[in-house]
Amino acid sequence: MKKPVIVTDKFLENLEDGAVQQTLSSLKKAGVDYVIYNGVEPNPKIHNIEAVKKLYQESGADSIITVGGGSAHDTGKGAGIILTNGNDITKLAGIETLDKALPPLIAVNTTAGTGSELTRHAVITNEETHLKFVVVSWRNIPLVSFNDPTLMLDVPKGLTAATGMDAFVQAIEPYVSVDHNPITDSQCIQAIKLIETSLREAVANGHNLDARTKMVEAEMLAGMAFNNANLGYVHAMAHQLGGQYDAPHGVCCALLLPYVEEYNIIACPDRFAQLAKFMGENTDGLSTRDAAELAIKAMKQMSEDVGIPKSIKEIGAKPEDFSLMAENALKDGNAFSNPRKGTKEDIIRIFQAAYDAS
Ligand SMILES: [Fe+2]
Repeated sequence: MKKPVIVTDKFLENLEDGAVQQTLSSLKKAGVDYVIYNGVEPNPKIHNIEAVKKLYQESGADSIITVGGGSAHDTGKGAGIILTNGNDITKLAGIETLDKALPPLIAVNTTAGTGSELTRHAVITNEETHLKFVVVSWRNIPLVSFNDPTLMLDVPKGLTAATGMDAFVQAIEPYVSVDHNPITDSQCIQAIKLIETSLREAVANGHNLDARTKMVEAEMLAGMAFNNANLGYVHAMAHQLGGQYDAPHGVCCALLLPYVEEYNIIACPDRFAQLAKFMGENTDGLSTRDAAELAIKAMKQMSEDVGIPKSIKEIGAKPEDFSLMAENALKDGNAFSNPRKGTKEDIIRIFQAAYDAS
């Protein structure tokens, strides 16, 4: 790397001794030139990745360093994709669609989190169609990623809760995915146990370094798990809510989680019964079905404890949009590994259940 584009947002750039300033001071010490793109926004849009591409080309950059959470990493990945794989990223939605390497990419991560700093997923929103889509390819995986919990101590409570719930969902979905294996299982189990014993604490006191450390470890384990075992309908449907209403990804995932998994129980009741145990529930003497239901209850409790709203109404969801969102959810790259195969009507019913929740 002779001249990276730093991909971040203004808030992080202005944070005194924050991740951006620490990155810049390392680059200065090493005598490495750089340019900064500070326009990252939540649910990164096509215009964001095009702006990074333009800056990269006009400044003669040769690499990308993303500093931030999932939105920064996905913006950097998206720009890298259109720099080497063609201008129209919408044509590259899907799984293993990239045949050229991205420019060298380093990710400095500041949330625990999406896992995007180490996954093959890049999630981009088409601002014209409000469609959020995913480009899944091993070529998207950053060369190096940094996960330092001390960079996360000042993450606000709401963002800690939302990103932490994303990590929680990313540990649950690969555990029940059709693509799971013993290696991803062990990553999911450990991630769920870590989140169970640290997310509430990290939300309650952001400066609890032990809780922040456990959350970083958990989000990395979950990222490794779903890199291989993939996700499911929670993510496929959350992308529709995020694209349509520009709502935070982790909140969308948390709002849908119990309703998708309630629907999924019959596909693998034993796995859900085990999930209840990993979440610290006492399943002694319970039938498999009752233990599985206890897992759903524990998911709702986690959301409530960290302050996630109850219904998708609260992020602006409208029942008249459910039909189109259900259609698009079934086409999302994350839908194929869901343990239960649903119809459009099933997905509409799950959106409705998450809407009626109170
Ligand atoms: Fe996610």
